[in-house]
Amino acid sequence: MGSNQRLSLIDIGRPGDPAVFGEQVRTAAAEIIARYPAGEARSALLPMLHLVQSEQGYVSADGIAFCAELLELTKAQVAAVATFYTMYKRSPTGEYLVSVCTNTLCGLLGGDEIYRALSERLGVGMNETAGTPGAPGSITLEHAECLAACDYAPVVTVNYEFFDNQTPDSALELVGELQAGNRPLPTRGAPLCNFAEISRQIAGFVDRRPESVRAAATGAPTEAGVRLAQQLGQQAPSYPVSDRAGGPEHAGADAETKAADNTGKPDYTSSNDAPLNTVKSDPAAASPTGGQSERVDEE
Ligand code: FES
Repeated sequence: MGSNQRLSLIDIGRPGDPAVFGEQVRTAAAEIIARYPAGEARSALLPMLHLVQSEQGYVSADGIAFCAELLELTKAQVAAVATFYTMYKRSPTGEYLVSVCTNTLCGLLGGDEIYRALSERLGVGMNETAGTPGAPGSITLEHAECLAACDYAPVVTVNYEFFDNQTPDSALELVGELQAGNRPLPTRGAPLCNFAEISRQIAGFVDRRPESVRAAATGAPTEAGVRLAQQLGQQAPSYPVSDRAGGPEHAGADAETKAADNTGKPDYTSSNDAPLNTVKSDPAAASPTGGQSERVDEE
């Protein structure tokens, strides 16, 4: 692990050359930037980092320089983001990124044993690659925080596709198949692709394979609560924002929110758990047009 980390730090310290990215990547980058309001290209940084990662298998010094140039950021700003999120890799990644959830629930149910078994079989540690990065059958191993699939614990993902309810034996069989050049079907979700392809998808370019479009994203455990509620005719109630804020200490913030809303309408939330109070972070959303006309005018 140590040597990989040293290499990546040295790499990120290079000046970087944005010219290594050709016309095709620049066209894709322009498409990403065009998704954001004029003058706010910097908002495109996260997908842009996935785009450069799709080209080189990691976020290199060149990738950082490329993002900085196109988004009018400093390289330090780009590097700060790239080194904060674990999805951005700092050394070249294998054809497959195998992530083992070792967070509390998965860890207790066997995630730690799975990680140990894979680490031993592959002969690598965290963020290290068995095989030549990018080459067929190469595998980068990582342990991950909660992969948002606790109802299938312990889980392993391969290039972010789920393999549910794993055991050390099933996980060893899985990586054996990958190393042999096979692509076992995930428990749910799209069929596997390589790390470059999934990085491009995460950058916002759609996976158009018919089998991906048809693939089911959820399984029975995910839907069990909803189905039971349907059977019982139950719905989650909406509730006032003031209740949600959690007590008198938040009264000032609530009053501020209501004043900002100024709609004269009851201050209720939706019945799901989506982020609320967006008026504060996006004042345009409070306007009668929801900010649409302002954005059109800017263009
Ligand atoms: S703890 Fe492993 S998916 Fe949540």
